[in-house]
Amino acid sequence: MKVSPFHWTPGTPEDRLDGLEKVTGTATYAYEYAVDDVTYGFPVQSTIAKGRITAIDSRAAREIPGVLAVISHENAPRLSLSVATEIAGLLQSDVIAYRGQFIAMVVAETLEAARQAAEAIVISYETQPHDVRLSADRDDLYAPAGIDNAKGILNHMIPTDTTQGDVEAALASAPILLDQTYTTPAQHNNPLEPHATIALWNNETLTLYDANQGAHSIRDTIAQAFGLTPEQVRVIAPYVGGGFGSKAFAHPHLLLTVMAAQVVGRPVKCALTRQHMFAVVGYRSPTIQRIRLGADHEGRLQVITHDAIVQTSTVQEFVETAALATRMLYAAPNRSTTHRVVRLDVPTPSFMRAPGEAPGMFALESAMDELAVACQLDPIELRLRNETEFEPTSGRPFSSRGLVACLQEGAESFGWHQRDPRPKSTANGRWLIGMGVAASTYPANRFPATAMIQVKRDGRYRVLIDASDMGTGARTVLAKIAADALAVPHECVDLEVGDTLLPRAFLAGNSTGTASWGTAIVDAARKVRFRLEAEGGSVPAEGFDVLGEAGVNPEAKRFAMHSFGAQFAEVWIDRDTGRVRVPRLLGVFAAGHILHAKLARSQFLGGMTWGLSMAMHEESVMDPHFGDYVNHDFAGYHIPTNADVESIEVAWIDEDDPYVNPMGVKGIGEIGIVGTAAAIANAVYHATGIRIRDLPITPDKLLLRGA
Ligand code: MOS
Repeated sequence: MKVSPFHWTPGTPEDRLDGLEKVTGTATYAYEYAVDDVTYGFPVQSTIAKGRITAIDSRAAREIPGVLAVISHENAPRLSLSVATEIAGLLQSDVIAYRGQFIAMVVAETLEAARQAAEAIVISYETQPHDVRLSADRDDLYAPAGIDNAKGILNHMIPTDTTQGDVEAALASAPILLDQTYTTPAQHNNPLEPHATIALWNNETLTLYDANQGAHSIRDTIAQAFGLTPEQVRVIAPYVGGGFGSKAFAHPHLLLTVMAAQVVGRPVKCALTRQHMFAVVGYRSPTIQRIRLGADHEGRLQVITHDAIVQTSTVQEFVETAALATRMLYAAPNRSTTHRVVRLDVPTPSFMRAPGEAPGMFALESAMDELAVACQLDPIELRLRNETEFEPTSGRPFSSRGLVACLQEGAESFGWHQRDPRPKSTANGRWLIGMGVAASTYPANRFPATAMIQVKRDGRYRVLIDASDMGTGARTVLAKIAADALAVPHECVDLEVGDTLLPRAFLAGNSTGTASWGTAIVDAARKVRFRLEAEGGSVPAEGFDVLGEAGVNPEAKRFAMHSFGAQFAEVWIDRDTGRVRVPRLLGVFAAGHILHAKLARSQFLGGMTWGLSMAMHEESVMDPHFGDYVNHDFAGYHIPTNADVESIEVAWIDEDDPYVNPMGVKGIGEIGIVGTAAAIANAVYHATGIRIRDLPITPDKLLLRGA
């Protein structure tokens, strides 16, 4: 018997399956579940950056009508987490590790009472001097033993440093040498839906309605923390309003809510405020990145070094992997990368869209632009000359590599060749006009997943998988994959995601969702078709279930797997005010097959818009005196509005990659942000002759440097 492999049908514009529910308000988000006898939790934050709590006076708070409990380290349930994460120490001692740390939780009959009581609690501290200063000259920078930001959940340890060839000799002998340092500020994740949880104990079982990127991993963490078996915990998360990494793992509010429900013996709801989110759900570490490029006169790289310095907190080690892309992007016989980190009295950084690549590629792709200037080469030509067939650090061939095609295709449609290469050569009235380019890349990984298909007598197929749709459209694309793999019309497929009662699948992160979940669904569909053939084509009266599985990809041993792209930007700069407009962006991507054109376009558009934001707007400002990120709302933390975003064009090159997964897809959730900021900074240089190496590109920096 022959079952055909996954048959891919080209993506056609289609609305997302849950579009109607979302726009009519019937899609239920975590905080919105109606729960009987519910109470409300509101957390209390530390107002010092380092020290100890000496007293908690909650008398006034407890007198507020409706207040049920004040939970602090004095009375909190004990947690039993085995790894050194931020949450392991939550309310477990009087120690303050950063300003904004959750140090108590008020539970009340109403949200208003809880919030009022939280403000009425008087905390006394013993303050110790804090240290929140990230700099390259600190003597306490250290090399982590290896980078495992997800504490084993991602199941791979990334080497901290790499080195090949004789870097120092190559630097000493390179005819053209560039040595520059680039910095990016702290940036904060701000999904539309703030983090929210409802915790409901029922005897020995716990149900959580929670906004997250992976119900199973949340379940496992909570089970361990509260000494339960995983089966005693159910996590429900069918709709999530964005996460971008900040909802990948359990953050303190989740454990506070579970504790609170335990203490008051009733369900508890807790939603963070926008202001809370600037301290307790992760953020992108600021980076200081030194790049050295040595090339011959033809622009062929002989040596590349990338040394990244980032911060973490004193309670958890998280390393922004800024130098990773430099390990694989361009050929050079001599190369090294390092990551150094310092533990400061700051909130714990975490995953934020394209963690590592987003700031790292700002540095590398700005440096490549500077090298192109130094070599008097077109920046696209420079990249073509340093193209590599093999992943430099591993020596593996690429399963597919579309960088050149993206650069060439993009140059053509953007009108790159009309550009006068001389800086400050083009103007229109008081506007200086420039064009810039940068490469994009992101790994094409895959993680384990299982999926069930229930075949019904009435011709319907129920697909069950604990995938997470945080607004990406995962639901829609997975239903499409199932229909295509089963060779049935879409309308026959019902899909359920976002619940630990569904078959386990790895969380939505690292741009692996479609690749991992889709592989499990294709495997299940293949088994369905075998079974149907065995049954002579008809479904038995009682129907049947099959379980599909996706393991780690065996081909990943043989091939390096990455998506690629090219980003183009046009900027107009007002020479009187230094104001920068970005009238045009173009992103061309090579990311395997694109299964669903409309959803894919939205992912790329969103990523590029965030790249524009990173280039022009986002900057969390650390106040050294208070040890606090001071701009912790949208009045002070700027993100682009419609007026800031003009034309963004997205295009892709369809790739046939037989090695990545049966669908031939590579992740697209994160690559869109990679390289955008460099393309804009490179365009700013072209327009003005001023190189901005410290994001964001604000008017003052251009004016002060004489635009
Ligand atoms: Mo993504 S930052 O891996 O959710």
